[in-house]
Amino acid sequence: ELYLHAGERLKGKKVLVSSGTTRVYLDPIRYIANTSSGKMGYELARQAKLMGADVTLVNGPNQMPKIYGINYVDVETPEQMHQAMLAAFADSDYVFMSAAVSDYKPKEVSDIKIKKSDDELQLELARSIDILKDLGSKKTTQKLIGFAAEDNNHEEHAQNKLSKKNLDYIVLNDLSNFGSDENAVKIIDQQNNIVEVKQAAKAVIAKKIIETVI
Ligand code: CTP
Ligand code: CA
Repeated sequence: ELYLHAGERLKGKKVLVSSGTTRVYLDPIRYIANTSSGKMGYELARQAKLMGADVTLVNGPNQMPKIYGINYVDVETPEQMHQAMLAAFADSDYVFMSAAVSDYKPKEVSDIKIKKSDDELQLELARSIDILKDLGSKKTTQKLIGFAAEDNNHEEHAQNKLSKKNLDYIVLNDLSNFGSDENAVKIIDQQNNIVEVKQAAKAVIAKKIIETVI
């Protein structure tokens, strides 16, 4: 394996990546989203492609340019992302859930543009689907990798997510790198082995994540 070229290490393998944010709508033109840039997913997809994989990128809203040779499925809402991930999941060898999915969605969605009336407007939110947890419950031979965005680098929160969602690895990243070109991560497996990758370009981090997982 050591002697294989970078371009062959994932030859014949199917890699599924999700990236970007999601949008949950209040009415036809208004939504709640987050500031995820899509860069981590983009770099994971690019590195997997460079290693010879067949790559599908389930692509939530973001500004990243599209990469030639990658199969894109553009989605907007958590439900669309869920369906797109499920459609490709069974056939995949490695699944990287790097999208920042909305935890909540408006309880009611208005069919028409909401008019302003009172001085205050109360929004009620309900939990939205946990895509990764659902994939974890359906996992057979896939290697499933989640991402945990934690404020203070909390390893125990990441470890809880790894076991609750039936993951093979969880990549812990500090929220301070959200949107940045760089990241610093800890890659944690089920035995609690931790590979720490110091602050580096997201391309370097992505390569290290993939190498650790394969
Ligand atoms: N995730 C998901 N669907 C959701 C929320 C999260 O698939 N509705 C995935 C993310 O893509 C990520 C992992 O779950 O790979 C962890 O996301 P994170 O937001 O760190 O954790 P949560 O489980 O949502 O918990 P919390 O936000 O309360 O920390
Ligand atoms: Ca969350």
